[in-house]
Amino acid sequence: MTGKLDIQPDPAALARHVADWLLDRAMAKAGKTAIALSGGSTPKALFALLATPDYARRMPWERLELWWGDERFVPHDHPESNYGMTRAALLDHVPIPAGNVHPIPTGGTPEEAAQGYERALRQAYGAEALDPSRPLFDVTFLGLGEDGHTASLIPGQPVLNERTKWVAAVGQGRPEVRITLTYPALESSAVVAFLIAGAGKAQILAQVRDGGADVPAARLRPQGELIWFVDRAAAGG
Ligand code: 6PG
Repeated sequence: MTGKLDIQPDPAALARHVADWLLDRAMAKAGKTAIALSGGSTPKALFALLATPDYARRMPWERLELWWGDERFVPHDHPESNYGMTRAALLDHVPIPAGNVHPIPTGGTPEEAAQGYERALRQAYGAEALDPSRPLFDVTFLGLGEDGHTASLIPGQPVLNERTKWVAAVGQGRPEVRITLTYPALESSAVVAFLIAGAGKAQILAQVRDGGADVPAARLRPQGELIWFVDRAAAGG
């Protein structure tokens, strides 16, 4: 995988750099900016920064549509919930209209949740099939696990072969059931932005970027731009 490697000195600088980048993009676009957020721990610093007055008062929240790339199938107030983490770090502190925030549902069965989210995405997109010239998202943020997973595209799971559905339930491979966007949905983005920090990611990042690892993140074929927002430690520096 190629893409642009954008290295910042440390996690705080990385969060500031990505916050500025996102702010610029959102302000430059007259209409809605559809963003798929990643979960886990890395985005917390970015979300906390966007919640500070300096960013919160400049971001055009009413023009953002927030979606999630994946979710743990737990209640939204559960400590493992990606939506819950984003709510606490960001959404509770900024004036984004509730109708602009689209959490992955975690009621009913995992299959029902995945189907429900796919319906919501298709409705927002306004078509049943993804058109390469009209991406589903403006920005898709992704993290990278040390086993090479991204979103909940987990090594060895059937979801890696799913090329029709936009959202799928992943019943194995993690302590909790996951709901994840599939490759077609994640790849349908004007920009895919990996956000990666820490020395623990240096080896997998190098393997993924030089094509030396057949892991889920390395199979991603973004239709648009690919940017690796990393700190120096993750870049091996
Ligand atoms: C999740 C994420 C997952 C994450 C990576 C990196 O739900 O856990 O979507 O794909 O991005 O595991 O996680 P960290 O940022 O915690 O290292």
